[in-house]
This record gives sequence, structure tokens and C-alpha cells, in this order.
Amino acid sequence: MAFNNDVNASPTSSTHSMNAADGSASSASVHTASDAEWLRNAVFYEIYPQSFADSNGDGIGDLPGITAKLDYITSLGATALWINPCYDSPFKDAGYDVRDYKKVAARYGTNQDLADLFAAAHERGIHVLLDLVPGHTSEEHPWFKASCKAEHNEYSDRYIWTNSWVEGAPGLPFIGGEAPRNGTYVLNFFKCQPALNYGFAKQTKPWMDSPDSPAAQGTRDAMVDVMLYWLGLGADGFRCDMADSLVKYDADDRPCTIAAWRDMLGRVRARFPHAVFVSEWGRPRLSLQAGFDMDFYLDWRWDGNPNGYSMLGRDTDYPLGDGPDASYFRATSTTGAARFVREYLPQLEDTRANGYFCFITCNHDTSRLAPRLTPREEQIAFTMYLTMPGVPFVYYGDEIGMRFRDLPSKEGGYTRTGSRTPMQWGGGANLGFSDADPSQLYLPVDPSSDAPTVAAQDTDPDSQLNYMRSLINLRHELPELQADGGFEVLHAADDDRAFVYRRVAADTTADGTPLPADAIPASVIVALNPSTAAVTVHLDADQPRPQGLVLLHRGDQATYAPETRTITLPAQSATIMR
Ligand code: GLC
Ligand code: CA
Repeated sequence: MAFNNDVNASPTSSTHSMNAADGSASSASVHTASDAEWLRNAVFYEIYPQSFADSNGDGIGDLPGITAKLDYITSLGATALWINPCYDSPFKDAGYDVRDYKKVAARYGTNQDLADLFAAAHERGIHVLLDLVPGHTSEEHPWFKASCKAEHNEYSDRYIWTNSWVEGAPGLPFIGGEAPRNGTYVLNFFKCQPALNYGFAKQTKPWMDSPDSPAAQGTRDAMVDVMLYWLGLGADGFRCDMADSLVKYDADDRPCTIAAWRDMLGRVRARFPHAVFVSEWGRPRLSLQAGFDMDFYLDWRWDGNPNGYSMLGRDTDYPLGDGPDASYFRATSTTGAARFVREYLPQLEDTRANGYFCFITCNHDTSRLAPRLTPREEQIAFTMYLTMPGVPFVYYGDEIGMRFRDLPSKEGGYTRTGSRTPMQWGGGANLGFSDADPSQLYLPVDPSSDAPTVAAQDTDPDSQLNYMRSLINLRHELPELQADGGFEVLHAADDDRAFVYRRVAADTTADGTPLPADAIPASVIVALNPSTAAVTVHLDADQPRPQGLVLLHRGDQATYAPETRTITLPAQSATIMR
């Protein structure tokens, strides 16, 4: 089946569908909760701090190392950073087990180093989001240690405890036998991560607090205090970990967790109205109601079923590329783009007025596309991810095609460890990451003789790095391609491999005032064909058509024949055209 204009034309879908009156896809500006103007044209770069740049030769990346690389980040065109947790931690889950929310881990530097990083980034127009881990702490956090005591104290109800050492929490993982207190406690993720108490939507046991209880309120106050602290030091906002699971036994559409966030974010925004929040939630209809500006489209496969994002690049159980792979961007796959479109469009619609659903190239929990995808396959994928609505996130190293590696687990990474290896800057023993003895590195660098590096790619016009730079530059130049731009599928099918879509600039100013017709920029068409054979796509008479002006391409460029209204997409090509 092929998609055409009427697929996304529902009465409520004006942002992403045809406007019948004048034949152009219309799009109004998006009003995010923070209304941080810079988001419209933002490109994020995710940094895993332990693996980015080691400034003091101890084998582990650090904050001064990141600061020293800000010019590189500017050269890439990224305008914002998300830094994974950099707080004091025993590192049993790579820092997602926080021991002190307000203290930078010694291995990364000091709070002053982080303040210096904020200042240096701001000088370059780069915004910085930290990672907030609101759902749990480390079992070594002083709050948790206090809550383990038999005597009642200020932190006794900061975590979720049952009333007796022999009673567990129905349906939730719990631990007993570890504390003097007569009770067991609930976990949020690993054994080292006790769940903070935001209350229960339904209180079926006497020890379950309501979300309105003083205990749950106290947890929210504590998290607000953490956010205000870092915003006061210069942070621009937070990526919020496991954002959908704060209140336990919440209904499917998470009313109580949404209320908890609205309370916390409301109070933070009263002091820092421009602070930006992105959720690890994956359901924008809910997360944007909770007050987030953006949500991620993540590689999540519940019960083995890939979501739309997984279908594109990660529809496989073999991250090294040695097994069956149905991912759309694999040249040898038979998957058409319609599968993705069916799953994506309804969710895009959910974000139409009040936020963004964001594409990532990868993240610290997800296997990198390389080596499973070839450089060309990866370029076609990145062409799409960098030309979609919402705010794109580039995971460090993806811009040079760094490869997922088969490595033993480090700090609770397990199969995620292979995506967390040191950034490959240049030549030498540690590929420019660190002066330490190679045996001292946080994780080994890629030992391959052809390991991609920034230095090797920097001056090569055809490199992965320079293609990523061109994509990001084009996005900065063209409002059509930016976060608020409309999105319209021109062609996506189950029985062929082409994907053609149109992006259109918002036709209102930020405050909603309609732009005069002659001020609305032309639309941009993106034509992708990951397969090994050329594909020809026929546009219907009422579909918008390209003028044929190519702005950027990888592989042979697509061509448009006006007489037959056909776009010919060469094998393994990506073309951005007017
Ligand atoms: C999130 C993080 C992941 C972490 C987990 C527990 O999914 O992205 O890295 O292990 O939460 O905090
Ligand atoms: Ca270091």
C-alpha cells in the first residue's frame, strides 16, 4: 500500500497534512512548555562524560575534557549538549545510581568545573542539559542510609518500605534482609537503586502513601531543590530519566505521574521560565501533558515488537550485524517505509501544538548503527533523522561512524557497554582520548586499523563527519527542516523501499501571527532509497512536486521528471531537494 496526501489528513491534522485551499502543507509554530526559542533550531549532542575526553590522564573522561572540546562541538553545528549523570556515585549503573545529587563526581572534576563548562558553552551559544535521575538513588545515598534505620527519622518515608521484613510489595521488585528497619524496600531498576517515594495511585496496603501525602510531597520538594541548584549554577535544563514511572500503580495513561511532574516542573519554571526538559518516556501524548518540552522516540521493543523507530535502524537481535536484520535502512532488508509511518504519524500528531518528539541517532542504552550499517546506510539514516520534525539528538561518535563493540560489561552496562567506548579523536595509542596507559582506560578504544577518527575525517570532504556537518548546516539554514516545520508523507509503501516526504516551514511567527503568503519559504523534499535497486515514485496530480533543485545528497542524486511526475531514486541514495 502506498501513502499519499489523504493518509494524514484528518480534521485535526493541519500541521502535518495538506491544506486543501492553497495546496501547501501548513504548519503553525509549536508552543513548548518553556517556550525556549532556541529549541526550534536546536541540534543536541549527547555526551557520555566518562568516554569523551580525558584532560588529566587518569584514563577517564572529565568535565574539563568536555570544555576543551567545545570548539569541536561548534564545528559540528550542535547547539546544545545533554550530559549523562556526572554526580557523585558508586557507579554500579554508570552514574544512574546517584549518591549525592548536588556534587560532581570526583572522577569528572568539581562543581566549579561544571559551572565553568556552562559558562564556556554559553559563550559559544551552546545550551547544556544535565541528566536528572528522579526515580531512585544509589543505595549509598545518605537519604537511603537514614531510611534504613530502625528509628523513625526525616528520611524514613523518602523510599518505599513495607511494614514488615517478611512482607514484599505486590508486583514490584523488593529487597529484604539488608537493613535494621523492620520492612522491605522497593527497587526501581538494579538492586543498587531503591525507588524514591512519590506515592501510590491506589493504596492497597497500609504502608502505601498517596501521591498527596507529606512523604510524596517531600520527595518532590527534594527533587525541585536539586533542579533549582543546578539551574542556579548555569544549567539550561534536564533530560529526565525513567520519567513515566514515578508514582507506582499509576493507570496506563499515568494521571498521577503527570500530576507529580506538573507540580515539580511548575515550581521550577516559576523560577527558571526558560529551563528545558526532555523526558525518557516515549509517549509524547502523556509526557507533553506532564509539562515536558520534548520526548524521545527510543529503540523500545516491548514483547519483541519493534516500535516505529526500531523498525528504521534496529529491527534485529544482532547488533554486530551477524544475524537477520529487517531494519529499513539495511540495503538487504525488504522493509518498506509505510510500516514506520503507520506507527509514527499518530504520535507526531500528539505533539502538534505543544512540544517535540525527538529522533536520536543512538544513545548510551542503544547499540550504535555501525558496524551493522555500512557508512552509506548510516548516512541515509542520518539524512532522515536530521530532517524530521522535533529536535534531533546526535550521540557522541556517531558523526564519525563509531562502531558498536562486543565488550564485557562495565559499570552495569551489559550489552550497552559496546556503545560507550572512548571518543576517537585522532591517531596514537588511545586515539587521542587520553594520555593514560591503555590498560587504565575506562573502556578500551576501538583497536581496528581503520577505526574512524575525527582527525582523519575532518579534512576529507566525503567523510561521515563532513556529511553530518552538511546535514546540520542545512537544517540551520532552512526553517522548513527545523523542529516546528510541517511534515507530509509523499510516498511510503510496503512493497517498495522508497521514502519521500516534504517539510514545510511554520506559517506563523512564534506568537502565532500568520505570516504573509510571500514570506512563507518554499518546502523541502527528502527522498530516501536504502535499497540496492533504483526506485521510481509517481506523484499524483494533486500532490506537491519538487522543482528539482538538489540541496544535498549522498549517493547518486534523485531526479524529478515533470512530464511524468516521477521521482527516480537511485540505489542507496539520499537526496534533499526543493
Ligand atoms: C535509564 C537510563 C539508563 C539507566 C536506567 C536506570 O533508562 O538511560 O542508562 O540504566 O534509566 O536509571
Ligand atoms: Ca580524567
